[in-house]
Amino acid sequence: MATMRERSTKPMYDIWSWFYNWTFGALVRSRQRRAVQQLPFKPGDRILDLGVGTGLTLKHYPTDVTVIGMDLSHGMISKAKVMCQQRGYDHIKLVRGDGMYPPFAENSFDHIIMCHTVTVVSDPARLLNWAAKIVKPGGRIVLANHFRSTNPIMGFFEKFTNPFWVKIGWRSDVALEDVLKGVDLHFEYHFKHRFMDLWQIVCLTNQKSVTPTQQATDGQSENNNQHQPNQPMLA
Ligand SMILES: C[S@@+](CC[C@H](N)C(=O)[O-])C[C@H]1O[C@@H](n2cnc3c(N)ncnc32)[C@H](O)[C@@H]1O
Repeated sequence: MATMRERSTKPMYDIWSWFYNWTFGALVRSRQRRAVQQLPFKPGDRILDLGVGTGLTLKHYPTDVTVIGMDLSHGMISKAKVMCQQRGYDHIKLVRGDGMYPPFAENSFDHIIMCHTVTVVSDPARLLNWAAKIVKPGGRIVLANHFRSTNPIMGFFEKFTNPFWVKIGWRSDVALEDVLKGVDLHFEYHFKHRFMDLWQIVCLTNQKSVTPTQQATDGQSENNNQHQPNQPMLA
């Protein structure tokens, strides 16, 4: 099975950094804004933007929160640094680091966001398990990502073409329910920014008391940031 490896991902995204903003980045901008909007900010919150890339999400954060942007690729994060300097974003700190080897202590963040990162790392479930540890109890974890379609024909196509996508920087064969299996996070809701969109926005919380019963299905509607206590946890 073709999969991602941090050793090759890093140089690949160093190259991507030169044209990311006007290629893939241009495709996903409105989804990034929508994903950031799912974070229930309070003044003084600490947010982790994991796999921050060239920093396209950063303009959407209010200035009264502290954002830590972390990325594996020197090239990507250098672009983000330049942008933050140019715009005078003092509330944003950028660090280079590998999401597979967390440099943060438990309960370090109020909320975490990962835009197009889950299918780029070598072990998506490990990434989410780590996120569950470092987000505070009740904190939200927002994912914006492509996940393998539940439509059998589309799903087969995405699995079949996966080796090609891996060569250019991401996996197309990762199913949402597989990623969330065994991850101790409460599934709140997920939705597509546009009808028939390839990407979806998924909201999870660190609410470990909820019973795991049901799996996510495509098309569940957005709930305007409201936590749904009776929603199932994916496990
Ligand atoms: C498709 S880009 C998304 C960038 C940004 N979040 C966005 O939406 O524009 C994926 C990013 O994840 C980073 N990445 C890949 N593996 C990583 C890891 N193990 N730890 C941290 N960042 C990683 C890549 O360097 C790249 O910048």
